[in-house]
Amino acid sequence: MAAADEGTRGQEAGGDARAEIERLRRLIRHHEYLYYVLDAPEISDEEFDQLMERLKALEAAHPELVAPDSPTRRVGGARSGEFPPVRHPQPLLSLDDVFSREELLAFGRRVEAALGEPVEYVVEPKIDGLSVAVTYEDGRLAVAATRGDGLVGEEVTPNVRTVRSVPLVLREGAPRRLTVRGEVYMPREAFERLNEEREAAGLPLFANPRNAAAGSLRQLDPAVTAGRTLAALFYQILDMEGEPPGTQAELLEQLRRWGFRTPPAWRLARSIEEAADLCEAGAALRATLPFQIDGMVVKVNRRDQQERLGATSKVPRWAAAWKFPAEEALTVVRAIEVSVGRTGALTPVAVLDPVRLAGTTVTHASLHNEDYVREKDVRVGDHVWVRKAGEIIPEVVRVEVALRSGEEEPFRMPDRCPACGAAVVRLPGEAATRCTNRASCPAQLREALLHWASRPGMDIDGLGPAVVDQLLARGLVHDASDLYALGVPALAALERMGQKSAENLVRAIDASR
Ligand code: IVH
Repeated sequence: MAAADEGTRGQEAGGDARAEIERLRRLIRHHEYLYYVLDAPEISDEEFDQLMERLKALEAAHPELVAPDSPTRRVGGARSGEFPPVRHPQPLLSLDDVFSREELLAFGRRVEAALGEPVEYVVEPKIDGLSVAVTYEDGRLAVAATRGDGLVGEEVTPNVRTVRSVPLVLREGAPRRLTVRGEVYMPREAFERLNEEREAAGLPLFANPRNAAAGSLRQLDPAVTAGRTLAALFYQILDMEGEPPGTQAELLEQLRRWGFRTPPAWRLARSIEEAADLCEAGAALRATLPFQIDGMVVKVNRRDQQERLGATSKVPRWAAAWKFPAEEALTVVRAIEVSVGRTGALTPVAVLDPVRLAGTTVTHASLHNEDYVREKDVRVGDHVWVRKAGEIIPEVVRVEVALRSGEEEPFRMPDRCPACGAAVVRLPGEAATRCTNRASCPAQLREALLHWASRPGMDIDGLGPAVVDQLLARGLVHDASDLYALGVPALAALERMGQKSAENLVRAIDASR
């Protein structure tokens, strides 16, 4: 009797737990939706964390009730070991670029001539991330893939599951089968934090938030992806059960109701002129967003018109990307230093007052070579405009001559190598001035070692600037071949290097033999 009682009570407790777990999951999903999609949270982060903790505790006490789409299960399962191919339900097309108002108006004229009727457009920000296609089956995230070549992508489902703004479960009313396309990106702040951490750890920096997002998504261990702050926005339906929305505007509203984040600040334009105005206003929008956008996308609003216009094998004829000019910032040159590269080339580098530019704080800008400095007439003390051309080290575009005080100092290329003191030469017909000490210039050696260890080189993980500098300072390495004689004890004795990292590094070096 007593045992039977226990059993019933146990079942009741199980039933209660089941009900509470389901209630908590619904509540957490609701608050995730308010927070990530509507951007209108109703509870504090602490309250949200408490709901999550309560759910985790209940699931830990009732492992039989754990479900793969529980909000606690974003990082689940083992590392995949590979990214299997996934064929997209329709090609993930690219976009034709326009760089001026005239070019956009010409695009509009072509579209309207082909259709022979007035056209409305939707204008959306162009998010600087990477495209993903995400498939939901019965409202549950089933497969996520990168763009790949547009036809076949790589499956990255466990990694995409860790992106908090990608819904694991869709809201009421979503079609039973749905594949959407969107953009995964890394918010500016997260990108800066990540690069600061990597710099401190001597790891190579990501050139821009897009590369950081791509690198974070293509991780064999989803726990690494989970440790990176990524976000996603969705803007296209690739496949669905039932009739897709009749316009891009309805599509964006529908996606949002189903639980997806959509591009912020999208607008409907009654004409191509109005679309061009919105694109021009995009430059101001860009400054207010917490993530990088590299332009605006103009799309024909009506789906029947989109279908009549069709697509080439690469791009739709119903959309165009308005690209922003590269961002520029004004700052002051405090010094011009000369760095020595792997091949001995001397590169003048401007040391700048820190200035924010395209998502990062810039402190150095390349001046390329002697001729470049002369041609731009960059002097120490000058106000200069700097720009990023996809590189980590930005470049000086031009001097703001009107701001000169007269105290500025012209630059002279040194006649001795700043690293080893050897003579430098500039051969006729060459832009580069080079250090003549090929055999033992420490700067050349350092760069040569870093090049050897780099991804396009021998791809030796863990052999970054911090380690190379110490190896050189301690005289442990005089050329790349010395790397292969390094043992664990010597490496473990370096700063910020434990036994485990030393073992990993020896293994990585061995693997490159
Ligand atoms: S529409 C057929 N909309 O930009 C639809 N693309 O340069 C084609 N992108 O490969 C894409 N934000 O990865 C579209 N709001 C947006 C976008 C967007 C970013 C990316 C996308 C595309 C690339 C083309």
